[in-house]
This record gives sequence, C-alpha cells and structure tokens, in this order.
Amino acid sequence: MQSCSSALCMLILLISAFSAEILSAVPSVKVKLHDSATLSCSERCSGLVRWSVFHKPTDVLAECDQTSCRSVKEGYQMIHDQYLKGNLSLTITDADFTKRGWYTCDCDGEDICDVQLLIEPLSTSVRIHPGESLVLDLDIPEEVEVIYNRTGSAGLSSGQICAVDGRSLQCDPEYKQRVSAALELRAVTPSDSGVYTVMDKKNEEVIHIYTVTVGSAGGSELNDDHPDLDTDRGAAVPVWVFALMVVVLLAVVVVLVVIVRQRR
Ligand SMILES: *[C@@H]1O[C@H](CO)[C@@H](O)[C@H](O)[C@H]1NC(C)=O
Ligand SMILES: *[C@@H]1O[C@H](CO)[C@@H](O)[C@H](O)[C@H]1NC(C)=O
Repeated sequence: MQSCSSALCMLILLISAFSAEILSAVPSVKVKLHDSATLSCSERCSGLVRWSVFHKPTDVLAECDQTSCRSVKEGYQMIHDQYLKGNLSLTITDADFTKRGWYTCDCDGEDICDVQLLIEPLSTSVRIHPGESLVLDLDIPEEVEVIYNRTGSAGLSSGQICAVDGRSLQCDPEYKQRVSAALELRAVTPSDSGVYTVMDKKNEEVIHIYTVTVGSAGGSELNDDHPDLDTDRGAAVPVWVFALMVVVLLAVVVVLVVIVRQRR
C-alpha cells in the first residue's frame, strides 16, 4: 500500500474485484471425465445461433438456424427441436481436460450466454512399498503444481513440492534429487504417505488427487525391515527447524538488548 498512490491502489482494487465478479457470475457445469456435458442457454433467437470458445468467435463449435443444426467441430451438438423451443443448449459428448474453459453462445453475433465447463478432479488411491517409486500422472499439458499434504499432520508440512511447465520441472530442493521429468518420486519411505494434489496453476483448478500410503499391505514385516527409514527422515526436519528457531531466538534477544541499552 505504501508503494502505490491511493488512487492507483483504488483502481487496481476495483479492476480486480470487477473481473472476479464477472468470472464468478458465469454459470458453470461440472462433469466427470469423459461424461457428456450440457451447457444450458435458454433464450429466444429467430436467427443464427452459434456456440464458440469464449473470446474466440471464429472458433465455432456448433450452430443452428431455422432450417437445421450443424456440428462444426466433432463432439459438439445442438438439437434442432430444442432450438425451435428456445432451448439453445450445447452438448459436449466427451468432456475431457482439453475442453475445460469458457464457452459463449451468440444469436446473430450478439452474446447471449456464457458457460464454464469444469471437470471433476480425478481421485486415485495408491499403496506402495518403501523403496518403490511413486508415479503421478499430470493429466494436462498446461502448467501444473503438485502439492503434498503429509498424512497425520494438520497442515504442518503441506505445500507445493513441484511446478511443471511443459518440459521444465521445478522442485523443492528436498525433492530435486528424487523426482524425474515424468514426475516419478523415487525411493519412497513411509513418511512420504499423504495426499498429493495436481493443480492446474493458471486456473487454480484441482486436476487429480492421489491418496498415497507407503507401507506393506500384509503386515509389519516391511516396516520392521526398514525401521530406520522413517526415523531418519523424521529426525532430519526437526533438527533443521530447531536450528532455525535458535537463530531466530538469538536475534530477538540481541535486538531486545540493543533496544534496552538505547533507552537507558
Ligand atoms: C435442452 O436440450 C438439451 C439437449 O440439447 C437437453 O438435455 C435439456 O434437457 C433441454 N432442457 C430443457 C429445459 O428442455
Ligand atoms: C492440504 O493442506 C492445506 C492446509 O495446509 C489445506 O488447505 C488443503 O485443503 C489440504 N489439501 C488436501 C488435499 O487435503
């Protein structure tokens, strides 16, 4: 707030509130991956009705006029009987991640409906043994981030572990050595158990949730074989945190001492 003039701040605030308002006002449809989705629009239109990708009026998907309806792009349908009744809905036969986004319906070139298509996040449970690799499918080619929530700790150690943009992969230093480009996390230990969320970074949309349990399904032999793995990794973090806390505490003490001396 100090670095920008109040008028400018006000303007920025207004613009961001306004655009958030517009986007949140757009009705949305959420379906399961590969289900069909119906984007609703009921308006009277006696002329040419066209569905297109939002802000790309030339990217026509399907259209109707008084005589018939046509699918311009495969997988997008309008029904003529419904059009005559004022139901201008568009049916997307196979909703996949590439079809997520905003769509516009117009009547003789005038925007009458905007609808957002969302895909329900996928959910996968994985049970693997210590030492094996965890492979996370990123599902979409767009930039994603992978967020890890450790099992059994309330938000203590959750956070982004990797960001993947095209072929470039950026991981937290702790994970750098263990993750390959396919987002394979090698040599897991029981402390890697938890929830891994693959997020579409740009749209802040959850794509895939992996609930991961590392341990042997049949009993405790494997855990007994590697009792040190868990404790080693568990101990590494507290030592580091402890050191940081000591440094911060010392800094606070020094600052306090300086302040007290100055006052005297
Ligand atoms: C509108 O048409 C779609 C098919 O295009 C249909 O699924 C939907 O039920 C119709 N809605 C109404 C209100 O009739
Ligand atoms: C992970 O933890 C954060 C808070 O630390 C929480 O907001 C988020 O919903 C959690 N995600 C999952 C998938 O549990």
